[in-house]
Amino acid sequence: MSAQYRQLTHHVATRDRLPPAIRPTLLEEAMQDWKHHPRFAGKARFFMNVHRQLLDEADWLSDTARVILDASGDTLQDRISASALASNAQRLLHFAHGHHEIEDHGHFPQFVRLHPQLHDAFSLLANDHQALDAALHGVETEQEALLRSPGRDQLAKLHQHAAPLNKIMHRHITDEEDGVMPIFLRHG
Ligand SMILES: [Fe+2]
Ligand SMILES: [Fe+2]
Repeated sequence: MSAQYRQLTHHVATRDRLPPAIRPTLLEEAMQDWKHHPRFAGKARFFMNVHRQLLDEADWLSDTARVILDASGDTLQDRISASALASNAQRLLHFAHGHHEIEDHGHFPQFVRLHPQLHDAFSLLANDHQALDAALHGVETEQEALLRSPGRDQLAKLHQHAAPLNKIMHRHITDEEDGVMPIFLRHG
């Protein structure tokens, strides 16, 4: 992770948009036209669907952990078991790691070969994956601990990791789609 990436304007946990120097390097297809573009079917739609699923699963994990934290003491363990928090967290972890792997080793290098001016954008997004991996690891550790000891303190720890994971996943995917969707729409 570079020193530049650690700046508040660059890091996925602190930026509120793509850094100003990167936005002008993106291809110009406008966001509002994506779903009406003649080449939206195929890779573009598939990519967006994968992202929606990742975001839905990250939303669910954070929201469900928070809601169950309010359960009364004698129902807490039943609520944790019934929600299948651990298995759903595991599915999100596998899904996210697999998706990042495909992007880091397939899509991103291919996009930079097609459009070298996108080097810095995809370098930033690859750094995001490292930050996401660390957040995913935190969730993995806490969900494994919750399986061993399904109590309120451990559930709170899982939520303390799931909530920031959800936040940075939304930031990353929003910015990534700004970089990637125009490429799929231009090249099909
Ligand atoms: Fe990504
Ligand atoms: Fe992605």
